[in-house]
Amino acid sequence: MVTLDLIGSSPKFRALMTEMERVAPVDSAVLIQGETGTGKEVIARAIHEASPRRNQRFVALNCAAIPSALLESELFGHDRGAFTGACTQTKGRFQMADGGTLFLDEIGDMPLELQPKLLRALQEREFERLGSAQTIRVDVRVVAATNQDLEQLVAKKLFRADLFYRLNVIPLSLPPLRERVQDIPLLTEFFVAKFAARLNKRIDSIPDEVMGVLKAHDWPGNIRELQNFVERAVLFSPGPALRLPLDLTQTMTQTVTQRSESAARTLADADREHILETLKQTDWLIGGQDGAANRLGLPRTTLIYKMRKLGIEIRRSSRSRALRQSPDERCRAAVNC
Ligand SMILES: Nc1ncnc2c1ncn2[C@@H]1O[C@H](COP(=O)(O)OP(=O)(O)OP(=O)(O)O)[C@@H](O)[C@H]1O
Ligand SMILES: [Mg+2]
Repeated sequence: MVTLDLIGSSPKFRALMTEMERVAPVDSAVLIQGETGTGKEVIARAIHEASPRRNQRFVALNCAAIPSALLESELFGHDRGAFTGACTQTKGRFQMADGGTLFLDEIGDMPLELQPKLLRALQEREFERLGSAQTIRVDVRVVAATNQDLEQLVAKKLFRADLFYRLNVIPLSLPPLRERVQDIPLLTEFFVAKFAARLNKRIDSIPDEVMGVLKAHDWPGNIRELQNFVERAVLFSPGPALRLPLDLTQTMTQTVTQRSESAARTLADADREHILETLKQTDWLIGGQDGAANRLGLPRTTLIYKMRKLGIEIRRSSRSRALRQSPDERCRAAVNC
């Protein structure tokens, strides 16, 4: 059975759990789609844990975080001398995951030129290491995830249709948190208990008005955003009742109003708005404890990557130039949108 902390009781969450346990035992590829922070990686791990492969490895690779020139070697490995600097023979993630599950995160960022080799590895379960003619056979179950609309990428010829169909054997769509508001109280209680224990604080009640604010917000950053928000609320609560910092409550109320005006936004628009909002809150600080990356629960490099991908231009602000000697300076960016 699944042993991960997967919290929820809404009909959408329960339907997802039923679907997840139905697909876990088979070896077919799974494609998980959903907005940022909806739990794609936790579901991928849960599928592995609920599968007969649970005693073998779960190997994850974020296709967006590796430069495309290195991705082939990361996936398939390389032989000694395959390229400058390849001093030893190295196993790729496919081989590491042999017998287990390979999680290909942000699959929409897989470079087109690598896609035929990936397709062959999925279909024939065989590939060659870079610089080697020896064919390696593996038994790997692939679970892929993306917050991009892959069908749209296929239509724009940015993603191969044959690879899309090969990955999309079992599609799983994760609902955004605003479509499962019923789960907010349970998730909040879970995160309050988790962070109170971690921060060594005693919080034993969540006032109704606090829960009301949390339920009214539409959480564009989904569960990750709720989690980070609760962490800060626990930190700032002076007594045993959970209290929301005033400035954050105001920001949330404004965001709800703004968001209800743009119901027809795309997933990318939602990500973009959320990142911009967070950058504004942190005065464009990206890295460090108080930076936007930390608030969004993302590594700094991933946030910078996402900003570039979403067309959020990063440039030095006059303020950052003034701070040139400061260690924070490298992380401070002005956003021109
Ligand atoms: N059902 C859940 N119960 C408890 N915690 C959850 C649940 N779903 C997600 N989380 C938590 O929310 C955070 C975000 O989850 P995850 O990293 O899986 O999202 P994601 O969809 O992969 O996001 P991204 O697209 O940004 O990579 C994690 O800290 C995870 O533990
Ligand atoms: Mg993820």
